[in-house]
Amino acid sequence: MIQLYHLTKVYNGRKVALNDVSFKVDEGEFVFIAGPSGAGKTTLIKLIMCEERASQGQILVDRLNLQRIKPNKIPYLRRKIGVIFQDFKLIPTRTVFQNVALRLEVQGAKRSFINKKVRVILKNVGLEGLGEALPPQLSGGEQQRVVIARAMIGDPLILLADEPTGNLDIDLSRNILNLLLDINKGGTTVLMATHNQEILQETNKRVIRLDQGRLVA
Ligand SMILES: Nc1ncnc2c1ncn2[C@@H]1O[C@H](COP(=O)(O)OP(=O)(O)OP(=O)(O)O)[C@@H](O)[C@H]1O
Ligand SMILES: [Mg+2]
Repeated sequence: MIQLYHLTKVYNGRKVALNDVSFKVDEGEFVFIAGPSGAGKTTLIKLIMCEERASQGQILVDRLNLQRIKPNKIPYLRRKIGVIFQDFKLIPTRTVFQNVALRLEVQGAKRSFINKKVRVILKNVGLEGLGEALPPQLSGGEQQRVVIARAMIGDPLILLADEPTGNLDIDLSRNILNLLLDINKGGTTVLMATHNQEILQETNKRVIRLDQGRLVA
């Protein structure tokens, strides 16, 4: 599903964020991207969603070669990918339902389809009945579930999660991890970046470890 060959990313011609990284992620796999702050985890996620371009090497996502992808094909790539970012904010003045529905509305989906789809997704992430709440009325864990629902609304093939448990305590972090594991059981390929050692030890899933831009394990 995702293949990296000798991937290198240099910012501003001098900061080496990723250095000759190669690995593959199979369809339906759940993989952790681990490593200390500055290791290159977020950079890797940005390269996979084509928010940044590699300096050297190749990257293939569902057979699309991102080194050669034309700008007009990037929306097509992005439809395959759901993203949960470290600092992704919900719109505080819009309801949970509206936050989750936004992507489908932009795509011009039918109202009846959107209503049904959002209801199912909210149920799947354990937020049934909270559709009319505003994000500031929710707990941190609940807000993170809304972010996950929003990422999953387009039925992506791949879910990229950058520190999805960032500000949560260990119980809530486990809770979010379990939700991502459930999503993975449904067939979505999941990449989760984290530096939380406790979370890494919760499962026997593969861990790709980066340090200063290099793949170390
Ligand atoms: N846009 C940018 N311009 C210049 N340097 C950058 C840019 N983005 C990241 N870097 C640098 O690249 C390196 C890797 O950053 P990255 O954000 O990928 O690390 P990370 O593993 O996600 O860290 P954290 O755990 O703190 O989120 C860091 O040294 C960072 O300062
Ligand atoms: Mg990061």
